[in-house]
Order: sequence, then C-alpha cells, then structure tokens
Amino acid sequence: MDPVQNPYAPGAGQRPPELAGRDHERTRFGVLLGRLEAGRPERGMILTGLRGVGKTVLLNELRSTAEQRGWVVAFVEAGPGRKFRLLATQALTGSLRAASLRHRTSDRLRKALRVFKSFSLKAAAGGSMSLGVAVDPEAGRADSGYLELDLTDLLVDLGEAAADLGTGVLLLVDELQELPKPDIAAVAGAAHQMNQLQLPVAVVGAGLPNLTSVLAKAKPYAERLFAYHRIDILEPAAAGEALHRPVEALGVAWQPEALAHTVEASGGYPYFLQAFGSKIWDYAPGPRRITIDNARAGIEAARGELDEGFYGSRWGRTTPAQRAYLAAMAAEAGTANGGSVSSGQVADRLGKTHRDLGQHRDQLIRKGLIFAPERGRVAFTVPGMGAYIERLDC
Ligand SMILES: Nc1ncnc2c1ncn2[C@@H]1O[C@H](COP(=O)(O)OP(=O)(O)O)[C@@H](O)[C@H]1O
Ligand SMILES: [Mg+2]
Repeated sequence: MDPVQNPYAPGAGQRPPELAGRDHERTRFGVLLGRLEAGRPERGMILTGLRGVGKTVLLNELRSTAEQRGWVVAFVEAGPGRKFRLLATQALTGSLRAASLRHRTSDRLRKALRVFKSFSLKAAAGGSMSLGVAVDPEAGRADSGYLELDLTDLLVDLGEAAADLGTGVLLLVDELQELPKPDIAAVAGAAHQMNQLQLPVAVVGAGLPNLTSVLAKAKPYAERLFAYHRIDILEPAAAGEALHRPVEALGVAWQPEALAHTVEASGGYPYFLQAFGSKIWDYAPGPRRITIDNARAGIEAARGELDEGFYGSRWGRTTPAQRAYLAAMAAEAGTANGGSVSSGQVADRLGKTHRDLGQHRDQLIRKGLIFAPERGRVAFTVPGMGAYIERLDC
C-alpha cells in the first residue's frame, strides 16, 4: 500500500501511531502531577526495561502531558561522559524562556531565573544560556560547583516559583544509568530534598533494568524515593491494538489471522511491532485489507532487515574476543532464567577465568550490547540478540 501513508514508526524514540498498553504508567503520572499541584507529596517514577520496549516514547508522552498542564519541563538524554549540569542547563533553557514570557510579573520566577543563571554559569565557562530576558546571576546560590547542592538550590527556587504559579517542574532523564555516578547521586539527592520540602518538583527517569541497582548504590534511600515501573513487552491484546488501531484510522483492516500471526511473531516487543507493521504495510497490495500472506511476506522481509541492521550493526561493532564472549552468553542463555546468565558460566564455557574476561565484559557494557542486571550476571540489552548469534552459527 502507499508507503507515504504508512503509519508505523520503527526506530529509536519514534513516536508510535498508537501508544499501546501503557495506561497504567500514564494514569500514575497523572496522579503524580495532580498530587504535586495540590501540594501533596508523591514519589517520582523510574521506568526500566530493555532497549526497544518504549521507554523513550513513554517519557516523551509524559513530557507532553506535563507541558499541556503548564509545567516547566526539562528533558535530559544522558550519555556516556556527558555531564548532567550542562545537559540540564540546555534542557531547562527553552522551558524557562517560555515560562518567563508567560509569567512576566512573578518575582519568585525572576529570582529562580537568576539562580538558574548561576547554575548555568558553572556548566561551562562563559556558557550561560540565553533566556531571552536579561537576568544577573544570584551570587551564592547554585554556584558552589557541587552538583547536588547546586541542583537542590535551583530546584528549590524553581519549585517555589512554580508552587506560587500553581504549576510544577518536571525533570525527565532518559538513559539515567549512563550519567556519571556522582551525578546520579546528585539527582537522587536533590529529588529527596524536593520530596521533604513538599515542592511541586518531580523527577522521572528511564533506563536499562540495572538502573534500579545503580540508583540504590548511589543513594540507599532511592528505593523509597521513586515508584519503579517495569516497561515490558506488550500483552497480546495491547500488541494487537498497536497494530490495528493505526490502520483503522486509514480505512484499512487486518484480517484476524494476519493480526494474530504478527502479534505472535513480534513476541509483543514494541520495536518489532513497528518494524513488522511497517514492512507488512509496504508489501500488502491492499487496497483495504491485510491478509495472512501479506503478513508472512512482510515479516520475512523485516526479519532479514533486522538481522542486517538492528542485530548486525551491534554485532559489527565487536572484536573477535568480544564475539566469543557474546557467543558463549548466547549458548548459556538457552537455559537461563529471565535472559541473564552468570558471568562465571560464560568464563567456564570459554575455558577462561573471570578476570581474563573482565575487560571484554566491560567493553561490551560500554558499547551498550550487554548489561549487568545484578552482580555476577550479564544479559543482552535487546531481546532476540542471543537467538541472532545462534543463527550466525559462529
Ligand atoms: N506502547 C507502544 N506501542 C506501540 N509501539 C511502541 C510502544 N512503545 C514503543 N513503541 C515503538 O517501539 C520502538 C522503540 O521505542 P523506544 O521508546 O525508542 O524504546 P526504548 O527507549 O525503550 O529503547 C519505536 O519504534 C516505538 O515507536
Ligand atoms: Mg530509549
């Protein structure tokens, strides 16, 4: 069918035409906003899950919800070696500029902008951000150079200004586990202060499943500070909705058998739903329906592309020693629980010691191919990676 009309959205962070199966998290987030607006305490949220399950698109959804309610929102995407202070400064600038235009008369907001200026001046030498309004830095606030203190200062002032204006401040951090360790502790520490002061400031983070333990290590109280949500593969009913709702709107229908087959083939993995849906649409001659034959042809083509791109690009970034490690993981994973395997077993299989393999394991973690869900265990960051490696038969 007409590729221009293709509604599916395969790709990292690509907004799906139907955000299926995330009602619970969206509802909880609505409660969070409502409670903070009403001056009541509420924990922030942490979304954890493998790559491609839809954490980033969910964060983006929460971001628009908060923006529509007039909240000041900063969306930070953490990455290896990226300092939080600079990322937060960049992320807050646009939102604060808009807020300062909307609430020209608020003294509290003006003070918060001065504190933001102090905070931003420490981000990079001469690196203050243009807010579109002239403000001087507030000396002695948010300028100690210690992120936790300065972020707390900043959020206290922003939170007080927001409370005055009947709104709130939302800090979203994607790939939170990638922040430098002291920065993670600083974010959790500042969130803790906001909670205690009952200011309308919420921190919502997303990351790989090891984020839970990363946070616990950074601050022991992190466990109680946030509500943890596991973002997982979709149930069959939600996976079906993700596929059929978008085409319904275009007057096209999936034949039930084709839909069931595609849901099953995707395993409910959101990225595959989009990748399969997209290819099936392109392959189906139409005009008004998608048949089981169309589904089979599209899935086969999509699988070929996934092996080339999605899995192949990951595999292609590895050295022979790293490949041996991954292949051993894949072979072990067959019998393992929850997709994780013990690094000791990987070592045994390769006839090496734990220590011999440490650097390969660390490099694979840095490359984002695997992660450590708990001490002494490793797992692939994307579903199906082990099966792909087994298919390669190396
Ligand atoms: N709830 C959902 N329903 C349908 N498709 C989704 C859903 N969540 C994510 N997707 C799709 O899955 C893919 C991966 O989403 P993304 O947010 O980048 O995942 P993550 O951040 O967890 O790696 C995208 O193509 C997106 O459109
Ligand atoms: Mg993401």
